[in-house]
Amino acid sequence: MNIAIIGCGGVGKALLELLERQQNLLAKENLYINVKYIIGRHDDARVALADPELDAAVILTPTNKDNGQPGLDYARAFLSAGKHVVTADKGLIIHGYRELQDLAETKGVKLAMGCTTGGALPSINAGIFDMAGSSILSIEGILNGTTNFILDEMEASGCEYADALAKAQQDGIAEADPTLDVEGWDTAGKLLILTKVLMDERVTLDDVQVEGICRLTAADIQRATENGCRYKLVGRAAFDASGKLKLTVKPEQIPEGNLLYPVGGKNKAVRYVSDTLGELVIMGGASGTTPAAASVLRDLVSIHRKRI
Ligand SMILES: NC(=O)c1ccc[n+]([C@@H]2O[C@H](COP(=O)([O-])OP(=O)(O)OC[C@H]3O[C@@H](n4cnc5c(N)ncnc54)[C@H](OP(=O)(O)O)[C@@H]3O)[C@@H](O)[C@H]2O)c1
Repeated sequence: MNIAIIGCGGVGKALLELLERQQNLLAKENLYINVKYIIGRHDDARVALADPELDAAVILTPTNKDNGQPGLDYARAFLSAGKHVVTADKGLIIHGYRELQDLAETKGVKLAMGCTTGGALPSINAGIFDMAGSSILSIEGILNGTTNFILDEMEASGCEYADALAKAQQDGIAEADPTLDVEGWDTAGKLLILTKVLMDERVTLDDVQVEGICRLTAADIQRATENGCRYKLVGRAAFDASGKLKLTVKPEQIPEGNLLYPVGGKNKAVRYVSDTLGELVIMGGASGTTPAAASVLRDLVSIHRKRI
């Protein structure tokens, strides 16, 4: 399989290493992945687009929640050229999912986005494949490892939010600018993708009511503990009593016994409720650039196996 990597930062470099490391494993199923092009912001993609031997574009550009660019235009161009697209960039799925999926179907190629909704956590693909033939009625998830770590730290040490954030930054878990994580927008983006793809709802980020974790105090966390609960940043898509779909991201007190209660540290989890398969919870998965690259590789393997 000849691939082009578009945007070769942290995840792209980890993917290059992983392709080398997993070579023998992939060879067992006759999959030989050759990185034919690496395209950065100053490169011209036209040669890759016109290359009849190129099979897939792996789009790893920065997530732009406002308009999906530059990933969205790359995805349009490579799908139009009849190449599979695998992406970790949430922005292009948030803004272009239906259009890109239609384009992929027209061109007889695949659009794979397993990495966009929690990296290593098998969330979207599990929803697509393992809940096939069933309707997903609601989605609930702890979809951001950084905020989960911060809340865990506040609970374990009794410290205030700012101190827990500083620890997460020291440990390399939170970014220098953690705004998108702590204000809930990363979770909102992932929830939106899951809702669009798995519930087939035409929703936008404006439809998500978003509240982050920044205003939680040590006293709030302490009160929750006394009530047998833990605060988690939960993304939820569910129908209200009047049948209207409501999308929320907010800190919620999760009682002991709830399947999301034990999700600790940097872990993530998603819970689906369906009409015929019941309730399913998927939990865990490593965080960081290598697991994210491994999630991208998983999609490439699935395309090779014709599973996607
Ligand atoms: N890091 C993770 O653990 C993780 C997990 C899940 C999903 N993701 C998603 O995966 C994507 C990549 O993440 P990352 O951590 O690798 O980000 P990153 O380190 O910022 O890498 C992004 C790369 O894209 C390049 N780029 C920017 N504009 C471009 C353009 N117009 N054309 C081509 N390349 C361009 C950047 O080049 P410059 O350096 O020149 O700007 C950089 O090399 C993001 O969308 C992120 O949200 C990441």
